[in-house]
Amino acid sequence: MSSLVRRTYSTRPARQPPSSPPSDLVSSPPRPNLKRKRPLTDHLSFTNTPTTKKAKPQKSTNKTKQKTLTQLHFALETSVLKTCPLCDLTFTQGAPDDESLHRSHCLRVQKGLEWGKEEEKESVKAGVEELCSDVRLKNGSKGRIISFRAEVSGRIGTKLQTLLDTINLTLSSPPLSQRVLQASKVYLFLLHCPTATSSRREKIVGCVIAQRITSAMAIVHPSSDETVKDTPTSLIPVDPSTNLYVCPTPLPTPMGIPRLFVSSSHRRLGIASRLLTSASQTFILGCPLDPSKGEVAFTQPTGAGKSVLEKWGKGGVRIYEE
Ligand SMILES: CC(C)(COP(=O)(O)OP(=O)(O)OC[C@H]1O[C@@H](n2cnc3c(N)ncnc32)[C@H](O)[C@@H]1OP(=O)(O)O)[C@@H](O)C(=O)NCCC(=O)NCCS
Repeated sequence: MSSLVRRTYSTRPARQPPSSPPSDLVSSPPRPNLKRKRPLTDHLSFTNTPTTKKAKPQKSTNKTKQKTLTQLHFALETSVLKTCPLCDLTFTQGAPDDESLHRSHCLRVQKGLEWGKEEEKESVKAGVEELCSDVRLKNGSKGRIISFRAEVSGRIGTKLQTLLDTINLTLSSPPLSQRVLQASKVYLFLLHCPTATSSRREKIVGCVIAQRITSAMAIVHPSSDETVKDTPTSLIPVDPSTNLYVCPTPLPTPMGIPRLFVSSSHRRLGIASRLLTSASQTFILGCPLDPSKGEVAFTQPTGAGKSVLEKWGKGGVRIYEE
């Protein structure tokens, strides 16, 4: 006797794959997304996949009677994956580890990290230089710019590592290699945040990593009436959606910017531009660099990064591969 199976659910749309924070960074070739989340099924101790059993031959004497079976499925219609609108991190709601990782990451992305007494105490030993003091921002708040070697150790090294982890997670970028760190300097914007108990409280709200490089590629600006398909094939597309192309000829370029970050509640105040100016003026002792003359390069920029490089670099900033 044959059995009819009636399914009680309709085909559901494919579940969204867990994702990293959406970044407007489009690269060619695409940068591998290192921040992959486990598929939802990995988080569950059960699966909803129905097991297929061989239908046993019925011993019923009434061979003409057909029995309708109902197959029951549990369907988790509300996704447990949540993307935070403030920091763009996608995490598993209800998983304590994920939630606490999100809480601390989100706070850092918005407000920055503390630069406390302990870091200040180690400043001299770590070779921290104050490049500008009393920098006034567009909203009237004040801060200062400091710089030190990126391969620093101790408490400042630990703080830098936390900051870089936050930046990498935000940009879905891989960690900077030891080789890159050895050839890099860190520029931090410390915002004065006086409290009732302390007038010396500071927050790291901006960071530029400047790296010694040898060559980079010039950005080509196809005229506005040219479309992507009109672009000569000899050009390398960095972000075709924003018409960002480079000429593949490597040109001598001394300074590269592999990471640039400003905490979200302090953006559009000129912090990134100030840090980039400090970096280009002090990276090579006694030899200030001019971005408009192609002496500074960025790695594949995000949308906001491209806007900064165009405004601050006055069209001269180049692109290099990290
Ligand atoms: C990109 C980023 C570092 C800019 O920092 P910032 O301190 O806000 O930049 P600035 O205030 O110095 O901006 C300088 C100019 O760049 C342009 N700009 C900056 N951010 C922009 C944005 N989101 N959209 C459009 N233009 C922007 C503007 O012309 C701005 O000048 P204006 O404010 O007078 O108009 C910051 O948005 C950030 O950290 N974003 C997330 C990480 C990231 O994308 N990093 C870049 C990697 S290449």
